[in-house]
Amino acid sequence: MSNFEQAAGNSLLGKVALVTGGSRGIGAATALRLAREGADVAVTYVNGEEAAGEVVRAVRALGRRAVALRADAGDAEEAAGAVTAAARELGRLDVLVNNAGVGVLGPVESLSPADVDRVLAVNVRGVFLASRAAAAVMPRGGRIITVGTCMTQRVPGPGGTLYAMSKSALVGLTRALARELGGRGITANIVHPGPVDTDMNPADGPHAAGQAAVTALGRFGTAQEVAETIAHLAGADYVTGAEFSVDGGHAA
Ligand SMILES: NC(=O)c1ccc[n+]([C@@H]2O[C@H](COP(=O)([O-])OP(=O)(O)OC[C@H]3O[C@@H](n4cnc5c(N)ncnc54)[C@H](OP(=O)(O)O)[C@@H]3O)[C@@H](O)[C@H]2O)c1
Repeated sequence: MSNFEQAAGNSLLGKVALVTGGSRGIGAATALRLAREGADVAVTYVNGEEAAGEVVRAVRALGRRAVALRADAGDAEEAAGAVTAAARELGRLDVLVNNAGVGVLGPVESLSPADVDRVLAVNVRGVFLASRAAAAVMPRGGRIITVGTCMTQRVPGPGGTLYAMSKSALVGLTRALARELGGRGITANIVHPGPVDTDMNPADGPHAAGQAAVTALGRFGTAQEVAETIAHLAGADYVTGAEFSVDGGHAA
């Protein structure tokens, strides 16, 4: 391995990251990618205790510290509490990845007030409260990276009103956080995945072919491909308030 590669692999050495919803999918891939860059990592989960435990074991196998925290992002106290718990357990917090999210799709007339409350609680309020708690404990060089969706930029068909609405709020939050925290050297950015092969959106699911067809590359992405951009942002000093599409050209 060259010196250059070694340096790249150590870009987050000594840093601590929290990945919400890190037991599966994009969050699990991100936790491992950040650990490969040298970070110690906390992940949250709700039901996937066993899967979260596997992520913890994989991070530890890379020589990094790891902890799994049960915390429902839809619960106001737990959303903020996970941030303070991660900082307490691992000693500090440098990187928050707001990844936990839910997608409730369907015709607008089928979506109930309870659906709206749940989706906004997890996708918006949880992200706000975790970011707020992170801002209180992050040192200079802190990073807040939020997972949005390609549907904030282009909605290719029906059924996405509630999901697109919730994730679009995160674009405004990200820009405002960048302005508010920039003076402290803390950055805030948002990554918009396209269709990515996970439990939430399997590449062999009933709506998969149509989603792949509206990307320029004609295929689903992988969780690792999204994690790559998140890891880049975790190490980037002069990037803030920005949106990054990792969507195979969905928005093109
Ligand atoms: N897959 C896609 O095509 C796609 C596209 C654009 C954006 N996204 C976004 O990417 C993010 C990750 O999606 P994914 O596809 O990786 O989903 P996934 O495979 O379904 O994984 C979801 C993860 O979030 C956790 N989670 C779910 N609800 C939670 C809650 N209320 N509080 C805390 N954790 C919670 C799950 O934990 P448990 O194991 O405990 O259930 C799991 O670790 C989401 O924000 C999603 O909206 C996904």
